[in-house]
Amino acid sequence: MLDELNQIEKNALDSLQSVADPAALEAWRVAQLGRSSPLMSVFAGLGKLSKEERPAVGQAANQVKVALESALEEKSAQVKNAALAKSLAEEKLDVTLPGRGVNIGRLHPATQQLRRVLDILAEMGFQVYTSREVESDDMNFQALNFPLHHPAREMQDSFYVETQGRGDNPLLMRTHTSPGQIRAMREASAMNPQNPPPIRIALPGMCFRYEQITARSEIQFNQVEGLAVGEGITFADLKGTLADFAHRMFGQDARVRFRASYFPFTEPSAEMDIECFVCGGKGCGVCKNSGWLEILGCGMVHPVVLQNGGYDPKRYTGFAFGMGPERQLMLRNKINDIRYFWGNDVRFLEQF
Ligand code: DAH
Repeated sequence: MLDELNQIEKNALDSLQSVADPAALEAWRVAQLGRSSPLMSVFAGLGKLSKEERPAVGQAANQVKVALESALEEKSAQVKNAALAKSLAEEKLDVTLPGRGVNIGRLHPATQQLRRVLDILAEMGFQVYTSREVESDDMNFQALNFPLHHPAREMQDSFYVETQGRGDNPLLMRTHTSPGQIRAMREASAMNPQNPPPIRIALPGMCFRYEQITARSEIQFNQVEGLAVGEGITFADLKGTLADFAHRMFGQDARVRFRASYFPFTEPSAEMDIECFVCGGKGCGVCKNSGWLEILGCGMVHPVVLQNGGYDPKRYTGFAFGMGPERQLMLRNKINDIRYFWGNDVRFLEQF
């Protein structure tokens, strides 16, 4: 019996030599330690042995079992390590490859330009005043001296958002930032109606017009409006301020010129051009051979507008101006289609 146990152990350990993977190992375990293995049948037969034989055989069988179990454990670790080494070799990871870049967001180019404008105006003492995008007709037009049915309204076709029951005062998306002038003046003059304080503000934000979308016109765009109201403000202040702005924005050598123009809310009105920075004034495609680029509209605040804001036009004067940051960026970077701004194409956006 003891010889037989020796043989069982030897056979089992021999056959374990050739085991190399988890499936073969499991088959070996079933064959050598499972219920119908030779070793287990020795345990099963113990009862049939004589009292004298039983302890020695039992003890020897147990030793064989412990030996086989520890051999199994050792082999199991070997098989696992081998499998790991194999998969590491096969699925090699090149840790020196560059990682996948994380795209960091940034400000929209229109916002970047808007902020450049506001930074310069802030240096010159203009405080930002943000006004609403949904306006009433009386703010967007009437208080700015565009009477009902006035032909100047033709320049600014509007998106109406509410007309029912509002008579001559429908709600619309503001077509320019100018209605913020009225709101700012009324807010300031309401605080001290007898002596309204001087005002120096910049009004930034989105404007909306009901237009055919083309390379040159969009239904939405930003404007920055400026307003200065006080005692003794003259057209010379307007010219000096805006020429200084142009130098800070486009360079100290940038030449500017003012041309007479018309806006209902200013009198007199003007447009400011800067010398074309693409051709230096010689004439090119960007300036359409004129040598000049139109940059903004401006003028002395119309007495009716001052009055509507609560400022006595006999005592106060002021100037105002309005410009488009997208247009400035287009000129500066030779962008030939305004639709890029809201086209959501990262190939355009990530250049800024
Ligand atoms: N609101 C005008 C527009 O959108 C721009 C403008 C012109 C604003 C002259 C002004 C100004 O304040 O004085 O076309």
